Amino acid sequence: MPEYKGVLTTEDRLLAKTWDRIYIKLVGTDGESQRKALSRGSYPESVFKVKVDHNNSIGKLVLIELEKKTGLLPPQDSWFPAKVELKSPEGETFHFPIHRWITDDEVHQFREATACLVFDDSHPLASQSRTEELKQRKKQYRWSIYAEGIPHCMKIDFFHGLPDEVQFSYTKQAEFGFTAIQGLIELKLDGLAARKEKWTSIDAIGKVFRHKQTALSEYVQQNWKKDSLFGYQFLNGVNPMVIRRCSVLPENFQVTDQMVFLRGGRSLTKEMQSGNIFLCDYKLLDGLKANKVNGKQQYLMAPLVLLHKTPEDQLMPIAIQLKQEPSEDNPIFFPTDSEYDWLLAKMFVRSADFQDHQLNSHLLRTHLLAEVFSVSLLGNLPMVHPLYKLLVPHTRYTLQINALARNLLISESGIFNTITSSGGEALQKILQRATSSMTYTSLCIRDDIKERGLESVPDFYYREDGFQMWDIINRFVQGVLGYYYKEDSDVQRDTELQTWVLGIFVHGFLSRPESGMPQKLNTVAELVKFVTMVIFTGSSQHAAVNNGQFEYGSWMPNTPTTLQRPPPTSKGTADESSLLETLPDVNATVNGMAVMYLLSKQSSDFVPLGHYPEEYFSERVPHQHMQLFKGELGLLSSKIEARNLGLIIPYTFLDPALLENSVAI
Ligand code: FE2
Repeated sequence: MPEYKGVLTTEDRLLAKTWDRIYIKLVGTDGESQRKALSRGSYPESVFKVKVDHNNSIGKLVLIELEKKTGLLPPQDSWFPAKVELKSPEGETFHFPIHRWITDDEVHQFREATACLVFDDSHPLASQSRTEELKQRKKQYRWSIYAEGIPHCMKIDFFHGLPDEVQFSYTKQAEFGFTAIQGLIELKLDGLAARKEKWTSIDAIGKVFRHKQTALSEYVQQNWKKDSLFGYQFLNGVNPMVIRRCSVLPENFQVTDQMVFLRGGRSLTKEMQSGNIFLCDYKLLDGLKANKVNGKQQYLMAPLVLLHKTPEDQLMPIAIQLKQEPSEDNPIFFPTDSEYDWLLAKMFVRSADFQDHQLNSHLLRTHLLAEVFSVSLLGNLPMVHPLYKLLVPHTRYTLQINALARNLLISESGIFNTITSSGGEALQKILQRATSSMTYTSLCIRDDIKERGLESVPDFYYREDGFQMWDIINRFVQGVLGYYYKEDSDVQRDTELQTWVLGIFVHGFLSRPESGMPQKLNTVAELVKFVTMVIFTGSSQHAAVNNGQFEYGSWMPNTPTTLQRPPPTSKGTADESSLLETLPDVNATVNGMAVMYLLSKQSSDFVPLGHYPEEYFSERVPHQHMQLFKGELGLLSSKIEARNLGLIIPYTFLDPALLENSVAI
């Protein structure tokens, strides 16, 4: 009787093993085996043999069926198998990736690992299993509208929660708390969490700024008043997404040559022509009703900032207008104004930048988009699809982190609503406005930088590292997908792929053609660019806007989450006490520090970009490209490390060694 030799591997992680009885059945092109019970207890690998009744083998293996049967006594025991390998009587090896929790008594089918596009999946058993799997997935991964006008999210079954396969590991679950209290305790600030009073001095803030600090956060504390650090953050801080080259001043921001004295007697007009003038316009925040914090009205401005690139290649602010509408009580501030007028103006900009950064650049453009990419992928592509195999590691933990953010951060009672000026009514409006202006161009870093006119700005490390990262990801995606999609027509007739793309257009971009998002992909080149954007957004772009939150934000005067006095309407009245009156209360400050600490903290089961511990592919070519990818990322990491040695502020946010595969925090 012909015999298949097998090895079943269970994931090496907490609570992955089961004591329940496991059964396996092999299904081949020419027949199938009996259902075979596997022996209990060997972990993580269990070796077994399956005899088949046929005179010869059962042909090429198409799929296996796994079943876990609970014993007579509950409770049920969850099981997390990793893979099965089978050797046929003829000596051919077949791989079956699983990487799924099995918690029920049902029969689960898993396809042989060789990736296969829908139009090539011709064996009736294979295509039947494909159809069944997709039916099941579509039931599990459904859309829900959290709020009108923003990307849709995963509909979570109230009773069962998220599907087991996308939940946090027990390790991550145990480590991760999304409540500020955990961060407050780690920063030893819990004693201040209920103090609804104002700060009495900047020194008093310094006294609580002691734990978990880094070289960069201390540098920020020492230099927060400097124009050079203020300018630098528009390029290499946590929100490098607002600045653009300015060749014509906006009509509502009429700065003249006489107003700004540029060193060396340069004129503003000439400097604009030479490409040395830059603008940050926070019009997205205009006309919004600011939140109340501790029962007090807060203030949220929509500033315009003009910056000049000096001959020494520094980006220096030269004019700030805090409200969009020019008027007598809306003065334009200059570095030549009194120390406190200028400092307050910059502080209102930093606070506006915090709101734009958290809601637009961070939440919307990385977290919510990554969720859209993931739900569309998990609901529309079967495991055997090469794109599923390529992208599923880049969806890790995204659905759960976003569900937590919706429940604990931005919900009505969430921390965002209690400590920020854009909480409450403004939050939804900012997200809606940002969604309606989101474009495909802005998600592809090379196009985005070109569109913003920032190609030649010196010392712009977000751009330098981001371009290299984009190109490395692009080569990897080209290598893997180029192996499966030989012709443009392969892309066009892959109905599953097209459903994934359309799902993103409809649920992420709310079917807005003006977003420039593809509704359909026509060529291999278009596919490669699109998938590069998906991986870049979830790994690199998220890291660029996420990882520095504590370093730049923990020194509150550099990033006030809210401000509680209106800005000065005339010059010469501000002093230190008006600055302290304007800053957030003690409780808002320390809660803000705690949240930024938690949101920048790496978890111990972090998977760096380009590491694929779960082997979804069995073919040689994708594995070769994974090795190349890892090698290129390693080289880039060394280059960035060497470059950073010569910098006063090392730029680490796009160092591949510190990037995660997915939006997981
Ligand atoms: Fe994040």
